[in-house]
Parts: sequence; C-alpha cells; structure tokens
Amino acid sequence: MDYSVSEKFRNLKPSAIREIFKSLGAAGSISFAAGNPNPDSFPVEEMRGLADEIFGKEAVTALQYGITEGYAPLRKLVAERLKRVYGIGTPDDDLIIVTGGQQGIELTCKVMCNEGDVVLCENPSFIGALNAFRSLGARPVGVPLDGDGINLEELENALKNNKNVKFLYTIPTFQNPAGITTSLEKRKAVLKLAEKYGILILEDNPYGDLRFTGEDVPTYKSMDTEGRVIYCGSFSKVLSAGMRIGFLSANKELISKIVVAKQVEDVHTNVFFQMICAKYIERYDLEAHIAEIREMYRRKAGLMIGALEEFMPKEVGFTRPEGGIFLWCSLPEKLSLSEFVRRAGEKNVFVVPGTAFSTDPEEESHSFRLNYSMPSDEEIGQGIKILADIAREMLAEA
Ligand SMILES: Cc1ncc(COP(=O)(O)O)c(C=O)c1O
Repeated sequence: MDYSVSEKFRNLKPSAIREIFKSLGAAGSISFAAGNPNPDSFPVEEMRGLADEIFGKEAVTALQYGITEGYAPLRKLVAERLKRVYGIGTPDDDLIIVTGGQQGIELTCKVMCNEGDVVLCENPSFIGALNAFRSLGARPVGVPLDGDGINLEELENALKNNKNVKFLYTIPTFQNPAGITTSLEKRKAVLKLAEKYGILILEDNPYGDLRFTGEDVPTYKSMDTEGRVIYCGSFSKVLSAGMRIGFLSANKELISKIVVAKQVEDVHTNVFFQMICAKYIERYDLEAHIAEIREMYRRKAGLMIGALEEFMPKEVGFTRPEGGIFLWCSLPEKLSLSEFVRRAGEKNVFVVPGTAFSTDPEEESHSFRLNYSMPSDEEIGQGIKILADIAREMLAEA
C-alpha cells in the first residue's frame, strides 16, 4: 500500500530518544537517555486513596465530559499556586488545563502560526516542541545557547533576518537538554528584544520547581506587563507524568482561542486525573513533596557531577545544573560523537546524542545529554566511569 502521508509529516523523523529506548532493557544496561521523572516521585498510596474516594463519592463527575478550560477546582488551585510561588497571573490573564505541557506547546503554535511562520528556539532545544512546530508547518529557527541562556546578539540577528517570527520558544530554567538557567539580566534583555521586534514569548517551565541549589530567578511571565508571555507548566515532573496534566497561563484573549483549538483536539483533559491532582493539592502538602524530589535530585546530580569531575578527561566539558534532571556534555571537536555513542552503546551505556535536539537536523554536534533522575546511584558511578574510559580511549587514538 502506498500511503501518501502529508508533507508536514513526511519529513518528521522518529525521536532519536524513542529509538534508543528500543535498545534498552538488556540486563546490565545503564541508561542516561531517559527524560522520565524518578518513579519514587509518584505519591502512589495517596493517589490510590483519592481514586477510591472519587469513585465512591463523585464517580459521575469523573466519568462524564468536562469543560474544555479544565476542572474548576484544579484551575483555581493552579492559579493560586502560580501567583504564590511564581508571581504569575494578572486580571487580564486566564488559565487552561492541558493534556501535558506538550499539548500546551502544540496548541500555542497551532493558534499563533501560519504555514511557514518562524518560531525562534534555543539551539539545542526540547525535541517534543521542535517536532510539534514542524508538524504544524511552522519553522523552528535555532539561536545558540550560552552558559547563561540564549545568545542575545544571535537572537537579535535572527529577529532582524527572519520574516514572520511569531514567538520565541524558551525553556529558561534547567533547560532540556542543556541543564542551563537563563540569568535575570538576560531575561530582562530578551523581554526588551521581544518588545522591540513585536514577538511573543512561550515560556516552558516544566522543571522550575526542581531547584536544588542556587537562587530562584523570576519567570518571564512574572516580569511581563504587556501580555507578551505565554507560560506553560506541568505536573509531570512533580506528581506524575502518566497523569498528563499541564497548564497554560496567558492573556484571556489568547486563552479563548486556545480553548477552541483544544476542543478540536481532545475536548478536554482527562477529568479523573484532574480530580486526583486537585484533591492531592487540597489534601496533602505539595510543597513538602516537591522538597523531597529536589533532595533526591540534588543527591543524584551531585553523584553525577562528582563522577564526571573524578573520571572524565578534562577535555570533555559539562554543565552544572542547579535543578531539573539533565546535564550536557561536550566532547572536543576532534572526537566523533556518533562513534562515542556507538562505543557507549556497545558497553550498554546509553546517552542521547546532541543531534537529536538540534533545530537543524543536519547540523553536526559534539555534545550529548545525560539524565540523572532515572539511573540508580550505583549506575551513575559505573556508567560515568565507562563513558570516561571511552573518551580517554578515543582521545588517545585521535
Ligand atoms: C522542556 C519540556 N517541555 C515540555 C515537556 C512536556 O512535558 P509533559 O507533556 O509531560 O507535561 C517536557 C517533557 O519532557 C520537557 O522536557
């Protein structure tokens, strides 16, 4: 059968990360390739009790259609928390519950972009967002990322040199894949540039709650006085990823359009899990739960950074994240990334090559992403030693 797939989808490659998952699971394999939260972050017993209660007392609400904007008690709780923790939410803003941050990103692009419109993105960036933009006919254009956030000069060049730039997509806090946090000075400068060139900012912040060291940096949305920033958040990394609960906070006018777009996609987010999420926040101490996750990731990140410092040759650079679940390693240019990843795979250690996150799929990369939320403490030490031996071996050969 000759399926003539649409042009938009014809050129979309399967996620390299999903491909790597196919090789995982062999006994003794160590994966630094995941983007998953550690399962210990799921409050299983509490959720089991809440599920029983919901089916005992409110089964019809859980099983009936809901409203597109989201389960009212959850919307209220999320809006309150955003205000309290992040200073987000003005009288002109509204909030919609979405099926994971992934849908929030996709709906924003769907509502904002015409075919061929440009979305500026940090390069490297989150593959799920890049593919969402591509699948909608928008054009992700990469702007290099420095150690303190997006490169301002390159951002301004991109704004000057591209027609029809609709918005900047940014993950300013504990970036995926690089683990970098954009400084306050840069955030202010980016807001000014957005104002100068009349573009919106989509601020994606699924990891913002997971700071384990350093000082919080204000979100773009909390500094926005013009309704220029669309904020996307998620419960995936603090309660459960499978629950698929995320949210968008933005100007009312824009949210009303996103509501229509969501009606076409999935009518509304799963009501049962919205109820679980709301009742968890009402009944339990979400902040204490998040504090435990931060502590776990502080330990795991510390183990990984410690092992990299001890074993990795100096020629290999790496970022030191202050939160989130990833760090980013860079090989010297004379070493081949694909050969490094191949040798690691042969030793049953899996990393994601930087090419997977590139805004230009043809671009060469010398970097790879390491995840520390999923591997056990022992695996972190063993796996980094193996990667360090491969780097040393390849440096000796070069
Ligand atoms: C930067 C970034 N944004 C958004 C998401 C989507 O998360 P979810 O759809 O589970 O809320 C992820 C998931 O890994 C991510 O890394």
